[in-house]
Amino acid sequence: MKTIRDIDVKDKIVLVRVDYNVPVKNGKVTNDLRIRASLPTINYLLEKGAKRLILISHLGRPEGKLTPETTLQPVVDDLQKIYKDQTIGFYSLPNSEKPIPIPENVKIALLENLRTNPGEEKNDQTFIRNIVKATGADFYVQDGFAVTHRAHASTDAIKHILPVYAGLLVEKEIKNLTKIINQPEKPLLVIIGGAKVDDKQPLIDKFLTKADHIFVGGKIASEGYKSDNPKISVATDFDENSTGDKLDIGPVSTGELANLITDAKTIIWNGLLGYAEDPTYATSSTITAELIGEKENATTVICGGDTTGFVENLIKDHKNLSYSLVSTGGGAALEFLLGKPMPGLEAISS
Ligand code: 3PG
Ligand code: MG
Repeated sequence: MKTIRDIDVKDKIVLVRVDYNVPVKNGKVTNDLRIRASLPTINYLLEKGAKRLILISHLGRPEGKLTPETTLQPVVDDLQKIYKDQTIGFYSLPNSEKPIPIPENVKIALLENLRTNPGEEKNDQTFIRNIVKATGADFYVQDGFAVTHRAHASTDAIKHILPVYAGLLVEKEIKNLTKIINQPEKPLLVIIGGAKVDDKQPLIDKFLTKADHIFVGGKIASEGYKSDNPKISVATDFDENSTGDKLDIGPVSTGELANLITDAKTIIWNGLLGYAEDPTYATSSTITAELIGEKENATTVICGGDTTGFVENLIKDHKNLSYSLVSTGGGAALEFLLGKPMPGLEAISS
């Protein structure tokens, strides 16, 4: 796999695919893990004398629409705080190959949310070619590990336009996750939660070949997922709000999960177990994060933007908690661990 160490970027324009699909509330980024995770690659390329970096990312699933909720402006604000001495440029997605007029002094520019153009998810070559031509990019770097399981224009079609090089985050994630999956110490417990029911449900059965036990919480469980397989436990009791919405898994299920955590030697956790953005419904996720973080002599993996964000916030006040690996990828990490095809990684030049 070719990485950014294999290219001479001096005076070149480098298009960098990052995953800035971060939680945003009232126009502010509430967890910047994925932004911080992109900095080693950005800094490396700048140190090596790149003329300019063009960062591209998606945010959420806006289905082609640009609104105040789907703009990447909040991320620009964060980047500006990190790179105080630079002017961070922010530009609309180009609709043609016509060059975007970017002032000479702008060394870091971000383009608007890729998914506000339908071409991104359609894996449309013209869409990504326009971006390459309009920005004058010489190289393409894939550093958005969390989106490498998608065959989209910026992860897949791009390989027909420019050679693709791996960034430092992609390289690191692959190395770390490969280590985990090659020899997981048994018992291996996989905990699945989160809100992307349609994405995660098919992965549960697939993990049966690797895991000794799978615990299912979050929206998947509250929406009634059932399994007869004795290796799969699905949360059975829930904390509800006044209108009967099941917003967290209850004490019985949390207790069952606690026992599984105690026994496990390897734990992979993706997806919050309840609606943990609201502290009222963060109980099971908090207990789970604490139990996993206090474990000794175990390999513990936390993956996904929301889960890692939650755990990182908890660590701030609980310095005794530690995890073997915190991955920026959610679905991407799970699919990688399952050995599924990863279009965004396959696109990287060999
Ligand atoms: C994620 O948050 O897992 C990635 O950014 C991918 O987002 P997606 O599931 O909407 O493709
Ligand atoms: Mg996510």
